[in-house]
Order: sequence, then C-alpha cells, then structure tokens
Amino acid sequence: MFLHVKDVSKYYNGKPILRDVTFTVQAGESVGLIGTSGSGKSTLSRCILGLESIDDGEIRFRDLSWHSASHEERRSMRKNIQAVFQDSSESFNPRWTLADSILEPLRHFQMIEPSEESTKLAHLLDVVQLPHACMASYPRELSGGQKQRAAIARSLSLNPQLVVFDEATTALDTLTQHHIVEMLQSYRHDQSKAFLFISHDLSVVSKLCDRILVLSEGTIVDAFRTDELFGDARHPYTTALRDAFVEKGRLLHGLD
Ligand SMILES: Nc1ncnc2c1ncn2[C@@H]1O[C@H](COP(=O)(O)OP(=O)(O)O)[C@@H](O)[C@H]1O
Ligand SMILES: [Mg+2]
Repeated sequence: MFLHVKDVSKYYNGKPILRDVTFTVQAGESVGLIGTSGSGKSTLSRCILGLESIDDGEIRFRDLSWHSASHEERRSMRKNIQAVFQDSSESFNPRWTLADSILEPLRHFQMIEPSEESTKLAHLLDVVQLPHACMASYPRELSGGQKQRAAIARSLSLNPQLVVFDEATTALDTLTQHHIVEMLQSYRHDQSKAFLFISHDLSVVSKLCDRILVLSEGTIVDAFRTDELFGDARHPYTTALRDAFVEKGRLLHGLD
C-alpha cells in the first residue's frame, strides 16, 4: 500500500472538519481532490503531510504513519512526501537566491556534494522550464509563475515518491496556469510519480489526474476515473462543480 487514508476524522474546536475520509493513492498515480472553498481540502493535505494530527482513523504512507513512526521513519516520510502550496512567496527565504532555496532540501538531508550542486540545479530548472539565469535571482525578482515553478523544482529535488499540490496554480493567471499544467503533464509523462493534486478548479485537476475525489463538508462524496467525469452517475455536488466548470469553459471560448 502506498498512501492509505482510512476513516480519518479531524475536529477544530469540537467542530468536525473531516469526517471518515477514506481513499488510497497508488505509487505513480495522479489523484485529484476537488471541493469548494472550506470543504476541508487543505486540512486534509496538512494531515497527510504530518503538519497536523488527526483525531480518528489513520494515514499510512508505505506502512508508516506519522503518529507511530520513529524519528528516522518520520525523516524518511518527510523526504518522500513533498508539498507545493498556493503562495510559495512565504516559503522562500527573501534573502536567499533561488539556487540556495531549491538546493536547501538536498543539503538538509545531506544528499548532495558541493561538486554536484550546479548540475543538479540545472537539471531541476530544466524540469520546471526556468531559465538557468534565474539561479542567482532573489524571490522578489521573480513573477508569481516563476516562483511556483521554483517551488515545484524544490519539491522535486529530493525525488520524493509523493507530491501534494494544494492549490498550487490557483493564484496564477489562466495562461501561466495552463503552461505550468503542461509542464507537469510532460513531467508525469516521463516519470511516474504520485501526485495528490488539490484544487477547487476542475479544469486543472481533470488535465493532470487519473482519478478524482470530491470532498464536500469534510466527506468524500464522489470518486471516479477522470474519463467518467461526464458520466451520468455523478453525485449532485460533482454535477454542480462540473456545470460551473463547463460554464467557465464556455466563457473562455471552448473547452480543451
Ligand atoms: N487552524 C484552524 N482552526 C480552526 N478552524 C480551521 C482551521 N483551519 C481550517 N479551519 C476550518 O476548517 C474548514 C476547512 O478549511 P480548509 O481545510 O482550509 O478548506 P479548503 O482548503 O477546502 O478551502 C473551514 O471551515 C475552516 O474555517
Ligand atoms: Mg485550501
């Protein structure tokens, strides 16, 4: 079993935020999680990343779980589960160059020799399609799209087994979003890495994911293969999200 989320519940101030959430992600699979704002997506992502504890159920990643793992095992989980959040500005040290930020996880886990750094960095920048000249830039010198690409490069630096994207393209304009999704599509074409792609935007999720889970008020209400999105057996909440997406597509002059 790769990622196994089983009967997970989470409360804030006695209020249920996640209720009996159960799903799996297989190695190499790309799974989308959609739901309207406030449905509990980020809470779930923080629980998977071990940034928050759960009140009930269990989250297992390759037979390890955050609460019972030893120090070494937690370190291994942190290395193998990486994240990209909506606003990466906050996660970059403003006084560090992009090179230092992208290489930081590798240095932290002592997985790179100084002599290997420039080759590795060039490779990561190529993957996310950032010009090598960006290496010496500071976060303030980059556009929002470039910063998200850099955050993706950093998340991939350790060659993690699972990457959790929480609204990673949401803050970007439509065209930049489109280019980053294309970049991720081609990355996944070459490397079968597991993605959990969390977004309220069905257009992004449906392009990148093999399967889609739908979260409503902290509960998974629908789960299906992406090619079944337009099937007629969908939950009414999925249908509502889908209709909004189709409408948005029309406004943008056609779906692709
Ligand atoms: N740290 C927190 N303390 C109390 N309530 C929270 C906290 N984080 C999130 N919530 C509440 O949990 C619910 C789900 O939030 P969130 O997981 O951020 O949803 P989403 O990412 O789907 O928009 C919201 O009602 C939010 O107000
Ligand atoms: Mg969120």
